[in-house]
Amino acid sequence: HGDFSQNIDYVFKIVLIGDSAVGKSQLLARFARNEFSLDSKATIGVEFQTRTLAIDHKTVKAQIWDTAGQERYRAVTSAYYRGAVGAMLVYDITKRQSFDHVVRWLEELRGHADKNIVIMLVGNKTDLGHLRNVPSEDAKEFAERENLYFMETSALESTNVEMAFNTLLTEIY
Ligand code: GTP
Ligand code: MG
Repeated sequence: HGDFSQNIDYVFKIVLIGDSAVGKSQLLARFARNEFSLDSKATIGVEFQTRTLAIDHKTVKAQIWDTAGQERYRAVTSAYYRGAVGAMLVYDITKRQSFDHVVRWLEELRGHADKNIVIMLVGNKTDLGHLRNVPSEDAKEFAERENLYFMETSALESTNVEMAFNTLLTEIY
């Protein structure tokens, strides 16, 4: 964690999207600061955090943008997607509706982002396995059909969060 003193070789803009309360902000808090909060407030407008890491002996600065899942709090869509080279499309494995909405988010993403953007579908909250409403297989099949990377995470337990961001950044690189 933290910035390196060396020069930055690449800056990659990543955007987080998905329904409200799926855990976008907490995935970011976990990745950028190794923090997690159970009483996280809904995001209003846009926030971003950075983390600098080494990929293949290069120094990569990930600039990760986070906006509101709720329409009324969302920032200007075109500005949000501008320059993004990666996206994490997040749903909550315990909320079927958040998975059903993935198609809409994908439409918006494909309508606004660069056509070469690398997209990772993320099913978050695997720590709530007893409340699961989205089978991994459904998401995996959907991801394959739509040419997305796919991973399940828990921001709370810190499961696969590093792996999801690292995979995305490596694919971009
Ligand atoms: P918006 O900003 O409204 O779009 O929501 P968001 O997607 O940023 O959700 P946020 O990160 O604020 O998390 C919403 C709620 O889910 C909070 O109570 C978090 O603590 C909780 N949460 C986030 N990730 C996890 C997780 O992996 N497991 C569990 N159990 N709860 C989580
Ligand atoms: Mg948020």
